Amino acid sequence: MAEALRVGIAGLGTVGASVARVLRDKAAELTRQCGRDIVVTAVSARDPKRDRGVDLSAAKWFDDPVKLAEKADIDVFVELIGGDEGPARLSVKAALEAGRHVVTANKALLAKHGVALAEIAEKKGVLLNYEAAVAGGIPVIKTMREAMAGNAVTRVFGILNGTCNYILTRMEAEGISFDACLKDAQRLGYAEADPTFDIEGHDTAHKLSILTSLAFGTKIAAGDIYMEGISNITQADIRAAADLGYRIKLLGVAQRTDSGIEQRVHPTMVPTASVIAQVHGVTNAVAIETDILGELLLSGPGAGGNATASAVIGDIADIAKSRPGFQHAPVFGWPAKELKPYRKARMRSHAGGYFIRLTVHDRTGVFAAIAKRMADNDISLESIVQQAAGAETQAQKTVILVTHETTEAAVRKAVEGITKDGHLTDKPQVIRIERAE
Ligand SMILES: NC(=O)c1ccc[n+]([C@@H]2O[C@H](COP(=O)([O-])OP(=O)(O)OC[C@H]3O[C@@H](n4cnc5c(N)ncnc54)[C@H](OP(=O)(O)O)[C@@H]3O)[C@@H](O)[C@H]2O)c1
Repeated sequence: MAEALRVGIAGLGTVGASVARVLRDKAAELTRQCGRDIVVTAVSARDPKRDRGVDLSAAKWFDDPVKLAEKADIDVFVELIGGDEGPARLSVKAALEAGRHVVTANKALLAKHGVALAEIAEKKGVLLNYEAAVAGGIPVIKTMREAMAGNAVTRVFGILNGTCNYILTRMEAEGISFDACLKDAQRLGYAEADPTFDIEGHDTAHKLSILTSLAFGTKIAAGDIYMEGISNITQADIRAAADLGYRIKLLGVAQRTDSGIEQRVHPTMVPTASVIAQVHGVTNAVAIETDILGELLLSGPGAGGNATASAVIGDIADIAKSRPGFQHAPVFGWPAKELKPYRKARMRSHAGGYFIRLTVHDRTGVFAAIAKRMADNDISLESIVQQAAGAETQAQKTVILVTHETTEAAVRKAVEGITKDGHLTDKPQVIRIERAE
């Protein structure tokens, strides 16, 4: 039998400790599958005394993950610390430069430094595997990188943040407010004490930026992503969406258009009958549309110790099965040097349907004025509905408009005009509608 694969794990939190446990519990199966043992020979975390729920006394302890990456007797460095700078970045870079394979679940690191790290990995002829960094346990990276060669991707979109999907699912199912759902999600451990990163779309944007690079062969450009979170979604939006045959999801969407590549993260209305609308709770999903394959949808657990460990262990097993001299798949599907500069399509040129909810003074002429602003901006309406229900007083009404395909620029101009006309009693709500099968 080949020599054992020696693994060093830096970070023994939710994911790291699960990886160590599963490697222990599944040792016999993994040895049979890989043709060699996989042994954890070195570990690092902040607190050497903390019980990790798994006996790691046979592994050498390192206080400093960078030292582990450089000096430990390992073949693979597994980074499960997190963060886009500091010990995570330094240790991954050190491991690659020392010619060690790296496995990481760190989307923030890859969104910021992925291309530079890929260049080092490819120069050194080692693997940089990161299946767990996008959509946790769903094998989307391998699918896009290895199973779709020759396909030209036209659009990739998905539900990439379990916290947001959990909140939106409960808001719809139970009729409760965003704030109440968020508190519950925090109590149950689905949301962080500071939830900004999840609910304002940053986490989704990091993951989307990696998928965009895989889809279009472009350099990662996380900073160019248009981003809106879910904190201003109300029960009124959710009810109106349901009445119109839609469900609201926080989607990350990357799409090739005539003016470049659109990358956007925002609350989105998808048809209730579409497959992606059936993805509930903390579950993630990624849809990939290509010229040859058509549409593929992968869905499954996007976070949690075991699900994420499953992806990390898949990556480690790939390294265990690889043989010296064997050409590895490039980190982002194309050799890092071949990744093209990202050409950004401006958000104002985005074309699609829009849902617009306006709370207006209940007086004559308002309806006509709204319709005129739409016509002036060449926006054709699929429907316009006036409602008098809910908590509104008799002095105000809700007007809900659904547009046919138009542009972001036209919608912004029309809504600006309506706001200037002085008919609104509250902030207008605009939610983009996404085509989905
Ligand atoms: N949790 C998930 O469901 C999930 C899903 C997909 C991807 N990920 C990614 O996986 C990575 C790890 O996430 P996690 O949830 O497991 O985080 P976590 O529970 O906070 O664990 C972080 C670990 O890193 C260690 N650490 C922090 N600073 C360190 C330093 N300077 N030197 C050595 N060790 C250090 C901590 O040590 P102590 O334990 O001693 O404090 C802890 O063991 C992140 O990149 C995250 O984005 C997580």
